[in-house]
Amino acid sequence: MAKEFKRYLVTSALPYANGPVHIGHLAGVYIPSDIYTRYLRLKGCDVISVCGSDEHGVPITIKARKEGVSPQQIVDRYHELIKKSFEGLGMSFDIYSRTSSKTHAETASAFFRKLYDEGKFIEKTSMQYYDEEAQTFLADRYIVGTCPKCGNDRAYGDQCEKCGSTLSPDELIEPHSAVSGSIPVKRETKHWYLPLDQYEGFLREWILDGHKEWKSNVYGQCKSWLDGGLQPRAVSRDLDWGIPVPVEGAEGKVLYVWFDAPIGYISATKDLTPDWEKYWKSEDTKMVHFIGKDNIVFHCIVFPSMLKAHGGYILPENVPANEFLNLEGDKISTSRNWAVWLHEYLEEFPGKEDVLRYVLCANAPETKDNDFTWKDFQARNNNELVAVLGNFVNRALVLTQKYYGGTVPACGELNDYDRETIAEVAAVKTSLESNIENYRFREALKDAMNIARIGNKYLADTEPWKVIKSDPARVETILYVALQITANTAIAIEPFMPFSAAKMLRMLAVEKFSWESLGATDLIPAGHTIGTPELLFEKIEDDVIQRQLDKLAATKAANAAAEASQNVECQKDTIQFDDFQKMDIRVSTILEAEKVAKTKKLLKLTVDTGIDRRVIVSGIAEHFTPEELVGKQVLVLVNLAPRELKGITSNGMILMAEDASGKLRLLQPDEKTNNGAIVG
Ligand code: 2FM
Ligand code: ZN
Repeated sequence: MAKEFKRYLVTSALPYANGPVHIGHLAGVYIPSDIYTRYLRLKGCDVISVCGSDEHGVPITIKARKEGVSPQQIVDRYHELIKKSFEGLGMSFDIYSRTSSKTHAETASAFFRKLYDEGKFIEKTSMQYYDEEAQTFLADRYIVGTCPKCGNDRAYGDQCEKCGSTLSPDELIEPHSAVSGSIPVKRETKHWYLPLDQYEGFLREWILDGHKEWKSNVYGQCKSWLDGGLQPRAVSRDLDWGIPVPVEGAEGKVLYVWFDAPIGYISATKDLTPDWEKYWKSEDTKMVHFIGKDNIVFHCIVFPSMLKAHGGYILPENVPANEFLNLEGDKISTSRNWAVWLHEYLEEFPGKEDVLRYVLCANAPETKDNDFTWKDFQARNNNELVAVLGNFVNRALVLTQKYYGGTVPACGELNDYDRETIAEVAAVKTSLESNIENYRFREALKDAMNIARIGNKYLADTEPWKVIKSDPARVETILYVALQITANTAIAIEPFMPFSAAKMLRMLAVEKFSWESLGATDLIPAGHTIGTPELLFEKIEDDVIQRQLDKLAATKAANAAAEASQNVECQKDTIQFDDFQKMDIRVSTILEAEKVAKTKKLLKLTVDTGIDRRVIVSGIAEHFTPEELVGKQVLVLVNLAPRELKGITSNGMILMAEDASGKLRLLQPDEKTNNGAIVG
């Protein structure tokens, strides 16, 4: 028998305020948490949903350094942007707070201080990487090197983004400072550690024995952490951005961001309501953490150990973490700008908030990584939202306007088919509830859409537009039933597509329904006058999608160019003008070309230099066929000393450029010119 709870506390991972929110964040964390919360609210449950910006940590200071502004300016900018874009998408947090708030500093400090006073930390001095040039210790992302697990040469001191491994700075091969680029030295420093090893027994019992119902990806990750053996974890850092460690002799040290951030859920609740303790300290509260898979260890192992060490707090009842969403086949990346940014989407697709909510839920990475493609986005909009949901609602409302001037007709006697249809709609409720309550939001969305599908089929089968001629009384019943199904659809889709649900209620000219009325057949009474029908969704045309694809292609090209420029060799030593003048470079035409026998790379070329006809042996056979070279004008260094290659004397050199991929390109005059023209 599942435990009954009196109230719910829903938390959503606090996004780092060092960049905007993208579709990966939305699909993984925020859309599911909003669906869950909206559903509970509709059911009339006592539920609060808390979120806010995570404003500490190294990524923020790195961004600030890069831009030459203060970390505070960075977090102020992104906090506002994130908050506004969440609102734009209809995220219904009860509070969107921030970890630079006074309440948070006080709450996190007091939390640390209690654990410190009760001897729950280990104090340890160790040697850590230090950048002598920048005069700073190199924690987490301040240090970069090669990942020992996958060889990625841009792995961070806390994580390799390529293979997802959690790392410590000591594991990096050839570490260097991300601040100055210099090779760091080791220096002694003192920190406080939470001895996670001491919580292993508690975690095993609580998770491995007590929460077998958790999603298998979450349970599996917890099990592998526990089976691997837990180590004490430092909860402080040598940094000048964060909450100061509230202990004497801890100057220059702040709380580790992963120590203070989850406490942010508590401080956000405090800022929301003076009654915050009932959400955090009562066993009657069900706490659910919505997060992405990279946050599992912190929410299932570290934070619960902190709560346990502190005492008096409840633990999460579930942590339904999602996998990752990719974009057009590639990993979403903030640094490579490979993302669909929420604030840009809202600007570029006004009025289509629900389309994004729908697509990201329908395609959510619930059990495995998934891919977002613009073509799929278009297809789901056109074939599902427009063709199924929009079409049904529109037909029901437009026919009511047309036949009855917008007044809901009376329900006559129901036939078997009407009764079956009504029963089918009512049956959706159980499945929909069970799917939402078990965090299967994709399935739940299918259930909600099924109501519209049933309605569409009902209208297609009963054909009121034909029957109106022969049996107008029957049409009254058909449209009465269709309008009840419309109202049911509005209830069922609200958690997923709140804007469309609200629009439907406006068109039906009714107030909000409760969740409990889902399945009812008397939601819109006969005699009620509905409003003016409008289209619920619009078709998205190919050119709109192409613009998005072009934008991504431009990003890809810019990334490739940036990568290529990183591989450009350094400038050679300076030479004098006279040195350059010594080179005699002429425009020439290749007259003949043939492969040099028994070699892979050499071509024998006969060229007209304008001065003479001569033979040049060139190592370009792997890049050009003889046929494509004949007739081409090229640049030739004609006064290069002759060289003997495979028994042939080579008199000069064809000039080439080697691009970032290693491919050779001919250098040519921009227009045909006379052979012998001097280059210089
Ligand atoms: O991964 C992240 O984006 C973190 N900022 C999430 C923090 S969640 C919570 F603990 F605050
Ligand atoms: Zn790696």
